[in-house]
Amino acid sequence: MPDSRVSVPRTNVRVVETAAQLRSEVTAARSAGKTIGLIPTMGALHEGHLSLVRAARHECGFTIATVFVNPTQFGPHEDFDKYPRTMAKDLELLDSVGTDVVFAPDRQSVYPSGFSTYVDPPEIANPWEGQCRPGHFRGVTTIVLKLFHLAGADVAYFGQKDYQQARVIQRMVEDLDVPVVVRVCPIVREADGLAMSSRNRYLDAEQRNRALALWRSLSLARDLVAAGERDGARVAQAMHDRLTELGVDRIDYAGLADPVTLQPVAEIQGPVVALIAAHVGQTRLIDNLRIEI
Ligand code: PAF
Repeated sequence: MPDSRVSVPRTNVRVVETAAQLRSEVTAARSAGKTIGLIPTMGALHEGHLSLVRAARHECGFTIATVFVNPTQFGPHEDFDKYPRTMAKDLELLDSVGTDVVFAPDRQSVYPSGFSTYVDPPEIANPWEGQCRPGHFRGVTTIVLKLFHLAGADVAYFGQKDYQQARVIQRMVEDLDVPVVVRVCPIVREADGLAMSSRNRYLDAEQRNRALALWRSLSLARDLVAAGERDGARVAQAMHDRLTELGVDRIDYAGLADPVTLQPVAEIQGPVVALIAAHVGQTRLIDNLRIEI
């Protein structure tokens, strides 16, 4: 007779749900002389996340991945409710790359009733994503600082895919003297260039094809700069045009920024980062590419 129970994968990774359990894991790892590597995630994991765990395993004796869909970084009309929650699969994947502990708290324990202290993000949070998603980075800095404290992390790993987020976190760590080293790991792309993202699973086949417009527009920016174009506005216009030609439904932004300050670049005199946020169907996608000259 077939087994009617839902199959829960057997994993070696330990899952903890409370701050107290996490602290006791961290204390034990520290007493064993291990450095703590932290990989904050919102779950719905893909190869990009796993590359962060691998980087942490390479460098740290003890790796903690967190899985928490953080409500405070979503705007009122964003996809918090429908954000993919795939815990069983996530645990399997985290186990497969040798994660030691997964911290998966519930909302109430992270934001208990009466919670009202937030981290005001640095100025580099203001342009680009900051303009399109007011309050987003305040939610990110708040949860990330909490996770740094809870996990007592020595090193924390973030993907370059969220370029501005990584810069915001680096700046927060600098400004508030947080004793954590922030590592930013390369974007992992599909064979055709699409940046891996938890939100790619919202796309149907036709939209998945149109989503390639982001990578093609970034590649165009890179090629124009390589060919000698030094006018930031002209490159930004070409990026917009390419996105439109290739059928994205709405562009939030596409342009060049200074890789450190995130200010838009008028004249290209050094390395820049090309940044895009665009909608394909109901899905908002972001991508970026660092361009050296
Ligand atoms: O990049 C993400 O998945 C989230 O913004 C993070 C860093 C886990 C904070 O919720």
